[in-house]
Amino acid sequence: MEKILIIGAGGQIGVELTLALRKAYGNDNVVATDIKPAHPLLKDNGPYYILDVMDGDATLEIVKKEKITQIYLLAALLSATGEKAPKKAWDINMTSLLQTLELGVQEKLNKIYWPSSIAVFGPTTPHDLTPQKTVIEPRTVYGVSKYAGELWCQYYNQRWGLDVRSLRYPGLISWKSEPGGGTTDYAIDIYIEALKNKHYTCFLSENSYLPMMYMDDAIRGTIELMEAPVDKLKTRMAYNLSAMSFSPKEIAASIQKHIPDFKIDYNPDFRQAIADGWPKSIDDSAARADWGWKNNFDLDSMTIEMLSHLREKLGIK
Ligand code: SER
Repeated sequence: MEKILIIGAGGQIGVELTLALRKAYGNDNVVATDIKPAHPLLKDNGPYYILDVMDGDATLEIVKKEKITQIYLLAALLSATGEKAPKKAWDINMTSLLQTLELGVQEKLNKIYWPSSIAVFGPTTPHDLTPQKTVIEPRTVYGVSKYAGELWCQYYNQRWGLDVRSLRYPGLISWKSEPGGGTTDYAIDIYIEALKNKHYTCFLSENSYLPMMYMDDAIRGTIELMEAPVDKLKTRMAYNLSAMSFSPKEIAASIQKHIPDFKIDYNPDFRQAIADGWPKSIDDSAARADWGWKNNFDLDSMTIEMLSHLREKLGIK
């Protein structure tokens, strides 16, 4: 039986991934950890530890005590937060990964999951249908740490046979858990503000296209990648993963189909330069061919889900 450790379980991906893995593998077999006390949705449904991802000894102790066989390492500083504290972002993102990879070899773990991002790509990458293999020159510290991390994952796989798997997530859009300092977070805030105030001032310009994905698809895709037979995996760099692409103007139009008097205006800040360096759309044919990836949600079906769940969560009629 697999016993899973989630590091960064209180983050935007961590909350939903922990819930999905607990459903699939049983509550007691999914040990959640974060530097903060348990997120309300993770209270009383499985083991929980407070863990600082930089504390390798404490991580090893939990791995041994709980007889962990798989780790999902989700703790990270994202693109916008990372630009405010580049050295800190590098330290947290790289130290946590290298520690976990070492631990994976030493403790003979079955599998490790570590997320990468479209942030690995930069202004010199082709922006339309960005291929799996292409020019990769990230310009944010987050992107640099993700690309270096992908290379480390590939190295540990080739050198030590460690089964470490990864996805280049696009912007992830969720309602259960809060986003954590990314450039794509506007696409969550916009739904909340549309419901609360019928008005949103966007920190990206109206035609800034970015690849995006509804969290349900991302969680399912992650578990499908982790459960895929090992011989299906043809790359040990992270897989490109895609669902939809839209601009702030287009997501606003999708919301206006349900809230006709919703208004958007634009006041781009430092995050505009980050967005301008990233792809507009992603070619994920390798993920589709190798292990059967398929998205379920597009912009309009996601808008229906987001508005109805957030309406209930925020208590708005
Ligand atoms: N959503 C992330 C960010 O904006 C991209 O991986 O930083």
